[in-house]
Amino acid sequence: MHSATLFGLLAAAVSVSARACSGAGEIKCPIVFDGRVKTTTQLTDFDSYATSQFNPDYVKGNDLKWSVIIKFPSTRANARFDGATHKPFEVTLNDQSVFQTQYGFRRAGLLFNGDTNEGSPGSAGVKTIHFSLKWDAQRALNLSHEYLLVWHEAGDYSANQFNFEAGAILGQPSLPEDTYKLLDRNNKQIWSTKILKNHWQNFAVTLDFNQNTLQVHYSKGDKPLKTVTGPVPNNNAGDGQYQMGMLKKPTGTDDVVNSGYQSSNLDEGLIYGSLFVEDSADGCVSR
Ligand SMILES: *[C@@H]1O[C@H](CO)[C@@H](O)[C@H](O)[C@H]1NC(C)=O
Repeated sequence: MHSATLFGLLAAAVSVSARACSGAGEIKCPIVFDGRVKTTTQLTDFDSYATSQFNPDYVKGNDLKWSVIIKFPSTRANARFDGATHKPFEVTLNDQSVFQTQYGFRRAGLLFNGDTNEGSPGSAGVKTIHFSLKWDAQRALNLSHEYLLVWHEAGDYSANQFNFEAGAILGQPSLPEDTYKLLDRNNKQIWSTKILKNHWQNFAVTLDFNQNTLQVHYSKGDKPLKTVTGPVPNNNAGDGQYQMGMLKKPTGTDDVVNSGYQSSNLDEGLIYGSLFVEDSADGCVSR
């Protein structure tokens, strides 16, 4: 009896401390879109509106289902705002990741359900998109290419208000390849940090649609986020949608959408967690 109780206490202590070292962040502001994936979620849940928090039909290879594109990685540590109730997910690219007839790109980008292209609550007021990223050495990205990882595309598809990227930015050889970087609407870098291969990296971008600014917050591992830029002027007009996942640009072309070089037998992926958009009216940002 005694030893059973002691064992129970030890087991409880172990699980509490295992949890305390990861996913310890608390969301303090109202959630607008929740892209955190519950621990109970099955891969096939991503294939229908009834069970996915994302659009099951876009933006992906025509013949691929999200249940094939997304993997659940075996990484033990949860991302900062995933707690014990949510889990990381990996977005992957392969040779079939061709959307419509965009043969230059390899794409797998998630859209939040409810993030309508016009009049979305995500494109008004002051909003912060949070996401944590973790490198997968088994499916490493090829940083000789340019990858969009999280972005917001204007409703008329003519521009992206911001691009959070990795790799070699086309036309900007002075920017290092091995960084995550935030580019503004004119593709000018606002902030960057080195890609870490063994730690979660937590990012948040505040978009002020009234003042037309962007502001970046960042932390490593399970540390609280710190604000790492001022509010930087940016044209946030034009509505549109957030997209989370990957858009890999080709090399060796001026027509990146339709042509250029992509290596074959592609098997690349990046691990996402802590994905959500919160309302940052009154300066609220979860840290
Ligand atoms: C990475 O991309 C470059 C440019 O397309 C290509 O030459 C190289 O073979 C690729 N490396 C791998 C490991 O696929």
